[in-house]
Amino acid sequence: MDIKIIPAPPEKRKAKPTDESKLGFGKIFSDHFFTMPYHADRGWHDPQIEPYRPLQLDPTAMVFHYAQEIFEGLKAYRGKDGAIFLFRPMDNIRRMNVSAEYLCMPKLDEQLFLEAITKLVLLDRDWIPRGSGTAAYIRPTMIATEKALGVHPANEYLFYIVMGPVGAYYPEGFAPTKIYVTDDYCRAAPGGIGAVKAGANYAASLHASEIAKKKGHTQVLWLDPAERKYVEEVGTSNMFFVIGDELVTSPLLGSILPGITRDSVIRLAKSWGVKVTERRISMDEVMEAIASGTMQEAFASGTAAVVSPVGQISFRDRDYLINGGKTGRMTERLYNELLAIQYGQQDDPFGWRVKIAD
Ligand code: COI
Repeated sequence: MDIKIIPAPPEKRKAKPTDESKLGFGKIFSDHFFTMPYHADRGWHDPQIEPYRPLQLDPTAMVFHYAQEIFEGLKAYRGKDGAIFLFRPMDNIRRMNVSAEYLCMPKLDEQLFLEAITKLVLLDRDWIPRGSGTAAYIRPTMIATEKALGVHPANEYLFYIVMGPVGAYYPEGFAPTKIYVTDDYCRAAPGGIGAVKAGANYAASLHASEIAKKKGHTQVLWLDPAERKYVEEVGTSNMFFVIGDELVTSPLLGSILPGITRDSVIRLAKSWGVKVTERRISMDEVMEAIASGTMQEAFASGTAAVVSPVGQISFRDRDYLINGGKTGRMTERLYNELLAIQYGQQDDPFGWRVKIAD
């Protein structure tokens, strides 16, 4: 299928942000977006890039009622001399198809998906910011559009991709965050949809996140739903601890999102000779490591969050500082090297970077 391109007329083009230090996350979108509808009788059809616009949906579109929605998040980075890079886009594309399978949604052709991202980014390349730590965030999304109120997998869908310039995800920027550990609420259970990127998982996280925010914390750290004992993930990212000389993160046991940044952090740290272990880590162990002084650092990883230091953990109404509340050395090295690979400033021995413009 050929992707049709309908450029936005000059008078419809929006003003680009002038101050890149104030981009924040997910508030500004470029001039175009990609759309492709699906109908059970026709399959995916009419892929096109068109001027950015609101969607028009029937009030009974099934996404509004039964949350049949999945998404992805990846970034385009501006390198030196006009080069533009994507970071591990095929991993996002494959994960989206895994999410589609879990939510009984139709799969996407991987090559067409990559072509859609590439063409959109190139058309709106002037929207990719230049500053360090900034990028264009790309949000592929699939929603159920069939008009129906019976509970069943929809017969009609819309796949679309929007993009826009972003800075740091957290208001703190690359600065230590405060994490609130909840054992009152759970995000997802094994056998559920916690391991895929469905909007419903984020809806399930809102209540506890608001409690955390009211108490002055940036994010919630979720524990396993069965025993409320083992660390799972932070709302928008995967959790890592440096205990002694070991970098520890929770294993992917079915209720945790298999983060692409998580995998990149693991492989990068291993390439430096760091002992990296994917194992269950209990809050008891976290508390003990903090008390005994073996807890060196903590951070969270994600596309939006990149590598985000954790300076304080609050659990059962007590606050615990990690590394004196400061960013740790390994956290900083991971952040710097990951960004250097993403921006094309250093070698990419892993083959993660995809150059889409010279
Ligand atoms: C991402 O890191 O790309 C995410 O999707 C997390 C969040 C902003 C929902």
